[in-house]
Amino acid sequence: MSAGLVQAAYIVAAVLFIMSLAGLSKQESARAGNYYGITGMAIALIATIFSPDSSGIAWILVAMVIGGGIGIHYAKKVEMTEMPELVAILHSFVGMAAVLVAYNSYIDHGELTGAMLNIHLVEVFLGVFIGAVTFTGSIVAFCKLRGLISSSALNLPHKHKMNLAAVVVSTLLMIHFVNVEGSMFALIVMTLIAFVFGYHLVASIGGADMPVVVSMLNSYSGWAAAAAGFMLANDLLIVTGALVGSSGAILSYIMCKAMNRSFISVIAGGFGQEVTVSSGDEEQGEHRETSAEDVADTLKNSKSVIITPGYGMAVAQAQYPVHEITEKLRAQGVNVRFGIHPVAGRLPGHMNVLLAEAKVPYDIVLEMDELNDDFGETDTVLVIGANDTVNPAAIDDPNSPIAGMPVLEVWNAKDVIVFKRSMNTGYAGVQNPLFFKDNTQMLFGDAKASCLSILEHL
Ligand code: TAP
Repeated sequence: MSAGLVQAAYIVAAVLFIMSLAGLSKQESARAGNYYGITGMAIALIATIFSPDSSGIAWILVAMVIGGGIGIHYAKKVEMTEMPELVAILHSFVGMAAVLVAYNSYIDHGELTGAMLNIHLVEVFLGVFIGAVTFTGSIVAFCKLRGLISSSALNLPHKHKMNLAAVVVSTLLMIHFVNVEGSMFALIVMTLIAFVFGYHLVASIGGADMPVVVSMLNSYSGWAAAAAGFMLANDLLIVTGALVGSSGAILSYIMCKAMNRSFISVIAGGFGQEVTVSSGDEEQGEHRETSAEDVADTLKNSKSVIITPGYGMAVAQAQYPVHEITEKLRAQGVNVRFGIHPVAGRLPGHMNVLLAEAKVPYDIVLEMDELNDDFGETDTVLVIGANDTVNPAAIDDPNSPIAGMPVLEVWNAKDVIVFKRSMNTGYAGVQNPLFFKDNTQMLFGDAKASCLSILEHL
């Protein structure tokens, strides 16, 4: 393939990537957006493999078949609930790839001299730094999401000073690295610092802020790819990296706003947040239990019902019986609506996808802000596998790790039924005072089994 044709293919691929992002911004066009992205990536890969600069095509193809095979195998196996973990581990690959490309480009920097060499050394240094932070940060995020390590924030003494020291020392090492026209020792020391920094940065962030962390790491992986693009002088990699980097940063900002969190505070490992002491996981009073039969009676006597689903609905795959309950109640004239918290579940839009899958009509699925004032006039709220997103401590307890996060104010309804399996805490690891309120009853058991049992009694 001639160099001109490769450039033309890159431009087409870049346009397709932009169309893909535009498509993904709306539910109706998301599928088309995915296809634009796939086509763009196929064009980009073919143009790169067959470009005049490529050699060892057979090796590239062997690596692609092996890597692609592993990718297809895991992507087919992964459950919807495991999607954020998959995304986190994929970010770690991008981070490590950037580190390896940067080392390779440092060792084999050709004939560069003077200002061009200095620019190249800065690219190498930044590529390794961003890639290493993304690598360990994403691995910690993966382990937290998978429950391999605690989701609560690591609170080492002087943690912010340590983070600051890591940035200052790395900057000094970069100045030294450029001054001596490349020192392997400085590069290796900075790589180790960046690995620890990435680990510490994400470990210091509590469970409730993990959605923002995952999208922030998405952004970092984009910048790492852009840095690799500069080192390889590959325009398409620069454009693609910048698209991923900036869209990830914008998504993180939107999510911070939805959760009433400071963007800077979250990305700086919880900088500026008080160390929280209250609202552990101890129980805060007596809770009352109910049965599926009683819940069915309560529902039959209700005029208005709001269902607030959370991560537990996804785990139980309860969206199908939830849809059947909704249809039965609507047929009996009950006004049933769904209240969706912006970070319910484990990935943006998680609940909307599940409810759409079960064919719940779009028009009764409302955002938190659209119905938070309606709970006072609601007879019954079914909290199905949600916990942090309906926790009144976010409003009442300024020392809670979730203080300030907007929540669905379900406790204002006449009756609240909470579907869960135990008195365990939600993702943020804090107890929920909702469970001990006079108008709350707990329906213990797997959410799907509970819904099926309610259906039998309706
Ligand atoms: P959570 O606070 O995680 O609570 C889920 C609840 O579901 C738990 O109380 C659990 O209690 C229950 N549960 C689990 N499996 C169940 C089953 N099979 N049947 C019935 N109940 C079950 O969920 P949420 O309210 O959706 O809040 C989301 C949290 O995750 C927030 O803190 C958010 O910041 C965080 N997060 C969100 C995202 C995104 S982007 N949405 C990403 C990462 C993290 P039992 O164990 O007692 O059953």
